[in-house]
Amino acid sequence: MQWKLLALALALLAEHVAGQGRPAMLRFECSQLVIDRLDPLVNPGVLPSPHLHQIVGGNSFNASMDPADHDLPSLSTCTTCTFSEDFSNYWTAVLYFRARNGTFKRVPQFVSEGLRGNGGITVYYIPPYDGSKVTAFKPGFRMLVGDAALRKAGGNTPKVCHRCMPKTGEPRNINCAAPDSQTLPKGFCEGGIRAVVTFPTCWDGKNTDSPDHNSHLAYPVSGTFDSGGACPATHPVKIPQVMYEVMWDTRPFNSKELWPEDGSQPFVWSNGDDTGYSQHGDYVFGWKGDALQRAMDAQCTGDSCNELKSQTPEQAMKCTKQPQVKEDVDGWLTELPGGGSMSM
Ligand SMILES: *[C@@H]1O[C@H](CO)[C@@H](O)[C@H](O)[C@H]1NC(C)=O
Ligand SMILES: *[C@@H]1O[C@H](CO)[C@@H](O)[C@H](O)[C@H]1NC(C)=O
Repeated sequence: MQWKLLALALALLAEHVAGQGRPAMLRFECSQLVIDRLDPLVNPGVLPSPHLHQIVGGNSFNASMDPADHDLPSLSTCTTCTFSEDFSNYWTAVLYFRARNGTFKRVPQFVSEGLRGNGGITVYYIPPYDGSKVTAFKPGFRMLVGDAALRKAGGNTPKVCHRCMPKTGEPRNINCAAPDSQTLPKGFCEGGIRAVVTFPTCWDGKNTDSPDHNSHLAYPVSGTFDSGGACPATHPVKIPQVMYEVMWDTRPFNSKELWPEDGSQPFVWSNGDDTGYSQHGDYVFGWKGDALQRAMDAQCTGDSCNELKSQTPEQAMKCTKQPQVKEDVDGWLTELPGGGSMSM
C-alpha cells in the first residue's frame, strides 16, 4: 500500500512537470486552519474583511500581521502543513454553489491525489528549471496574485486558472495551459474543479512587500519559468515558484435538477464572481530560519525532505483556529458572507 502510494505520488509528480527529467519540486499538503472573513494582507486590521477566505498554515494568522511585530515562526504554536517549520499562511477565496432558489452552499474541498489531510491547499515551491541559484523569501515577505475585482479577460492574472477534472487522475500540466481556463468550467466536472494560483518568480531583491502586494515581483521577460526564462533587469532575483492547487468537490452538485434552467454554471467565488476571472491567492512567508533555502538547495521533491522537519497529516489536522468572525458560512445562505463584496 505504502509503495503503491509512493509510486502513484512519483508518477503524478513526473506528470506535473512540463519538461523532461526535472526532479526538484516541493509539493505538500496544508490542511484547513480556518475559514474566516479576514485578510491581513489587503485589509489589515479589518474585521470582518469584505469576503470569505479559506486559510492554511501557521496558527499565528490574524486580522493584522504587521511585519514589524508579527514574526510567524515565533508566534505560531502549530502549522497545518506537512513541513512543521513552515508557519507561512496561504489563503484563497471560497467557492459557493448557488441554488435555483438563490441560496448559497459552500463547496467542500478535498485533497489532491497522493496526499492526505482535510482539504486545504496543496502547496508547491519550485526552484528554477535550469538549476540556477534560487533565493528563498526573507522574513516579512508577502505577495498577492490575481485581482478580486476582475470580471473579464485581461489583467495580471494569466497564471490563475481552473480545470474541469475528469473522474480520476489527470493533474498533469499544472501550468494553466490548455485545457485550463481563467473562467469557471461551464459543465459538470466528474472529478470536481481544480483551482490553480501561480505566483511570479522574479523579485526586485529589495522590497518584501509593495502597495499592491505584487509590483515587487515580476514574471520572466522571455519564455516562461518552465523554460528557464530570464528575469527582467528590474526584478533580477529568482525566487521559488509558489503555486497553490485547490480541489473543490463540486460532485455533490452535479445534477440537472440543481443547475440553473438556462444552462449557465452555478458556482460563484466568495467575492460574488461567477465568471472565475477574479480568482486570487495571498501569501505571507513564515518558514523558520533558513529551512526553505535548505530545502531548495537540496533540490527536495514531493512531501518528504531530509533537510526539513515534518509531521503526520493527523498532527497537521489538529492545528486549527476558531473563526474570529462569527457568522454562518456553511448553511444554505440567503447571501454570501459579506454580501459577496468584490473588493480584495
Ligand atoms: C491577534 O490579534 C489580537 C488583537 O490584536 C491579539 O489580541 C491576539 O493576541 C493576536 N493573536 C495572535 C495569535 O497573534
Ligand atoms: C433552496 O434550495 C436548496 C437546494 O435545492 C435546498 O436545499 C434549500 O432547502 C432551499 N431553500 C429554501 C429556503 O427553499
